Amino acid sequence: MSKPKILVTAALPYANGHIHLGHLVEYLQTDIWVRFQKLTGRRCIYICADDTHGTAIMIRARQEGRPEEEWIAEMQAAHERDFAGFDIAFDNYGSTNSAENKILCDGIWGSLRQSGLIVEDDVEQLFDTVAGTFLADRFVKGTCPNCKAVDQYGDNCSACGATYAPTDLIDPVSTLSGSTPVKKTAKHLFVQLEQLHEFLDSWTQSGEHLQSEVANYLKGHFLGKPLRDWDVSRPAPYFGFEIPDSPGNYWYVWFDAPIGYIASTWQWCQKNGESLDDWWKSDDTEIHHFIGKDITYFHTLFWPGVLKTAGYSLPKFVHIHGFLTVDGEKMSKSKGTQISASTYLKHLDPAFLRYYYASKLGPRLDDIDLNLTEFANKVNSDLIGKVINLASRTARFIESVGLSKAYPEDGGLFREFADSGEKIAQAYDQLDYARATRLIMELADKANAYVENNAPWALKKDPERQQELQDVCTVVLNLFRQLCVYLTPILPRLSVQCGELLQSPIQSWSDSQTQLVGSPIAKFQHLMQRLLPEKVQMMIEESKPEVPAETAGAEQVAAPVSGPTSVPTDSGDALAAEPLAPTCTIEDFAKVDLRVARVIKAEEVPEARKLIKLTVSLGGDNVRTVFAGIKAAYTPEQLIGRLVVIVANLQPRQMKFGLSEGMVTAAGAGGTEVFLLGVDSGAVPGHRVH
Ligand code: 2FM
Ligand code: ZN
Repeated sequence: MSKPKILVTAALPYANGHIHLGHLVEYLQTDIWVRFQKLTGRRCIYICADDTHGTAIMIRARQEGRPEEEWIAEMQAAHERDFAGFDIAFDNYGSTNSAENKILCDGIWGSLRQSGLIVEDDVEQLFDTVAGTFLADRFVKGTCPNCKAVDQYGDNCSACGATYAPTDLIDPVSTLSGSTPVKKTAKHLFVQLEQLHEFLDSWTQSGEHLQSEVANYLKGHFLGKPLRDWDVSRPAPYFGFEIPDSPGNYWYVWFDAPIGYIASTWQWCQKNGESLDDWWKSDDTEIHHFIGKDITYFHTLFWPGVLKTAGYSLPKFVHIHGFLTVDGEKMSKSKGTQISASTYLKHLDPAFLRYYYASKLGPRLDDIDLNLTEFANKVNSDLIGKVINLASRTARFIESVGLSKAYPEDGGLFREFADSGEKIAQAYDQLDYARATRLIMELADKANAYVENNAPWALKKDPERQQELQDVCTVVLNLFRQLCVYLTPILPRLSVQCGELLQSPIQSWSDSQTQLVGSPIAKFQHLMQRLLPEKVQMMIEESKPEVPAETAGAEQVAAPVSGPTSVPTDSGDALAAEPLAPTCTIEDFAKVDLRVARVIKAEEVPEARKLIKLTVSLGGDNVRTVFAGIKAAYTPEQLIGRLVVIVANLQPRQMKFGLSEGMVTAAGAGGTEVFLLGVDSGAVPGHRVH
């Protein structure tokens, strides 16, 4: 009997941001597994989609004054471009905002209703009367009810760690409009997960579907007590699907997001003449979800409960991975370690990251660290030093004669490499890529020792030993090919290049068991360049914000703020949004030397998203260059000749585009909401502001 076919998913990325190296851990881990399965002949498809609904998308689109559909289409195109750049090969990439998803949501909702799992309850939430919307936890800030720390989000306090409801915050402020929200009650719909408790106990604790630490976590945190009702609706306005039997209410983004897995599969089925039931309602398909540990709850309790109720297949396994740290720390924008996929691709070969991540990934939930020094060293020593070199030190020598007619004596190396295939395959299958790469590099070491011992470069010089040269190169290129077969899931491009060089494409795992003899080889082309550490540095520099966050006031001028589309500037709302700083003395204030200055030149900085380069005069020959994050609000023409107030004694700061010798003062929330301070007539450049 043939093995069941496999349906693999990776978590659907949110349409509110770009893909970064943290996200890529999962998409690469999954891609490698899928490629491995396909290489061994398993029928396997890799399904994903953009996760498009929710308040965040609605707010973002509003701020940009565009329809949500336009925003999500643009983001999806960017996501797909980034994934393709890293050779992540989905069989279908859909969207949760699709007709298929709406139909499936309707059907699944009907099943939940029919099974008596849906209940209604009133929920009191904070409502922003200016923005006209209920506020999710992250859109409210205020004073912690526990320790009284100011400026805390609506779900937990970063100072004391307390968790609470946004309605508990003291002096809450909406981050959308800066206004004080009011409490408002609305009807919400809930799934009574508790009714599925027994099923979830047995499914999660069977030892078959989850890593053991995940099963234990669920048992310890959720399953030991009654399961809480799961709030799956949001009142209008909301960007999502309206609930058919509850007008004015929408499914919460987390309801329709996982259903997107099925919707995207359905699209693939339509394109390939397949039946959806064969993939989602059949014992002949194994469903494997790959996710990060932050979304465990949704995929291991809520999702199996929904699938079970609606009559779909349950996941065979939910594979959960840890987070990415960079140089041992959380990714940081200001340190330039929150690196977007597209920035990476501008500087470095995607194969480097594919290999490095693989070399760090195991089957457990441990976080993985991208150590930038180790990254460069490992790529250069393993990929270039041990693998690529095998071909580059031999292929040219036999370009004209090709491979030997019979496979030469190699001391058992080919056999040993072939026999290792099983262990390596097992490591891939068990998601232990760190072990797989270790095993492959051990073989590569043996191949390199063979090269050293047989010194083809010396044989090349001796006309009597040309047959020996051909034999040695034949052995090395066969060993190289075996390594490329084993590396195919991780390095698909190298695998294709190897096929082109030896004029025999790698098509299956079993290609590692067959020797190539008597065939011509192609002219040698460079397979991969070394990783240059300075490129890593350039990537980091490019990932740093243009205006450093720690510069006083700069954040206000330059950083994108989830601010209102229009703040009534003559009301107290702006003050509420950013409460006053602690009192300072006149001496404190005097430390800041504010001066009137005239803009004598204003230039675009073409590569900068937010900056304008200003040349300002403080009187006499005191002329400064200042980079200001005001591009979204002013054109250079509007600035030339006008008086501004600058912080004249700010320590100069080296930025990517040049030295900034001061800071222009401005008010406002950032982006287009920036207002330069004006000076009444009579003031002249150089006047101090007291
Ligand atoms: O955590 C996230 O980024 C979600 N967008 C993942 C959704 S996965 C699935 F359920 F759709
Ligand atoms: Zn607190």
